[in-house]
Amino acid sequence: MTSEPADLDRRDPLPAGPGRFLPPAGAIYLDGNSLGPPTPQGLARCRQVLDDWARLGVGGWTDADPPWFTWAERLAAREADLLAGARPHEVAVTGGTTINLHQLLATFYRPSGRRRKLVADVLAFPSDLYALRAHAGDDLVLVPSRDGRTIATEDVKAALGDDVTLLLLSGVLYRSGQMLDIAGLTAAAHAAGALAGWDLCHAIGIVPLRLDAWSVDFAVWCNYKYLGGGPGAVGGLFVAERHLGGRPALPGWWGSDKERQFEMTDDFLQAADAGAFQIGTPPILGIAALDGALDVYAEVGMDALRARSLRLTAFLRERVDAAGLAVVTPAAETARGGHIAVAHPEAGRVGRALRDAGVIPDVRPPDIVRLAPHPLYTTYAELAAAADTLAAIVAERRWERYPAGRGAVT
Ligand SMILES: Cc1ncc(COP(=O)(O)O)c(C=O)c1O
Repeated sequence: MTSEPADLDRRDPLPAGPGRFLPPAGAIYLDGNSLGPPTPQGLARCRQVLDDWARLGVGGWTDADPPWFTWAERLAAREADLLAGARPHEVAVTGGTTINLHQLLATFYRPSGRRRKLVADVLAFPSDLYALRAHAGDDLVLVPSRDGRTIATEDVKAALGDDVTLLLLSGVLYRSGQMLDIAGLTAAAHAAGALAGWDLCHAIGIVPLRLDAWSVDFAVWCNYKYLGGGPGAVGGLFVAERHLGGRPALPGWWGSDKERQFEMTDDFLQAADAGAFQIGTPPILGIAALDGALDVYAEVGMDALRARSLRLTAFLRERVDAAGLAVVTPAAETARGGHIAVAHPEAGRVGRALRDAGVIPDVRPPDIVRLAPHPLYTTYAELAAAADTLAAIVAERRWERYPAGRGAVT
């Protein structure tokens, strides 16, 4: 069996596209783990919302199809089933990752007596670190990284003493793409008497999640990466059934029981489900785009999508590695998320050279170029071309044509 990209594209059991997602034309789009492209269904639903807004005005909240007022709840049930491995009442589609993280830290980080420590890791996304510090102060413990790229399971376990009340980690690390053992580390936190919360931004929509089966306590994620919810789209959160019913620390009227929200009572009549953790009015356009994208996901299913993602990242990893470049994403399937991270001391300039050569990566300082194939629109041929372009830019030092400094966003 040949491993020529064209053959792989022909033979793959889940070939990409065409037209399931709409990445920018004329480029190889490998930045769907920063901002995913839209789907035709998502765009159609956004257009419908705009039309309904013009036609119905405020009536869209009750009379649009589906009514905007409960669309977030319907979408939460879809995410729970399709993506999170959770029950419908355990998921809310609301806010954004950082907002939801603040909500759930304020609710579930409850230091008491000598059990006060909040364990996270030094490679966490900056926004998470800002939030974690705001809640835990000096009680925040950051597990170190041995190689500056990855977090060792044993090191997390070693930090889980009897003074720890919460473990908060990312399911897939945003720089290196390392996937952590969510089930194993959640179990370790529980064995130490602590809760386990997860940031799943780089896992949702690319790695099948089994939040119930793994006994996760809570989780947060964004919907604008692999899932194609659109720029700044509404985020998501999961709260395990056993934690529902308590007061959210940051209550808002959108967390009300939907049947009673417009009674406008002074008392917060909270929803019985994870919807209670919503704060304010949801952004309907992002919800529309996401709902459309979930139609595409529903056709394929997460297990088939993950299987193809692993094939694509293995192929890309091998190509980049064979060109003598430093891949820092773990090779093991159990430790690999959805993107491939390549270390280069001039990552910013390499990224700009790639963009000018028609490959859209993203760059994370100090030295990482991230390449994120999406199983539903990236082909092997594109990955081969991207790897060859990257190799040529580095071998020929083409990045030297670009001034130092970070340059454009992404
Ligand atoms: C791992 C991770 N956590 C948190 C965030 C912050 O997300 P938001 O801007 O939706 O709050 C991001 C954004 O890219 C992220 O990648």
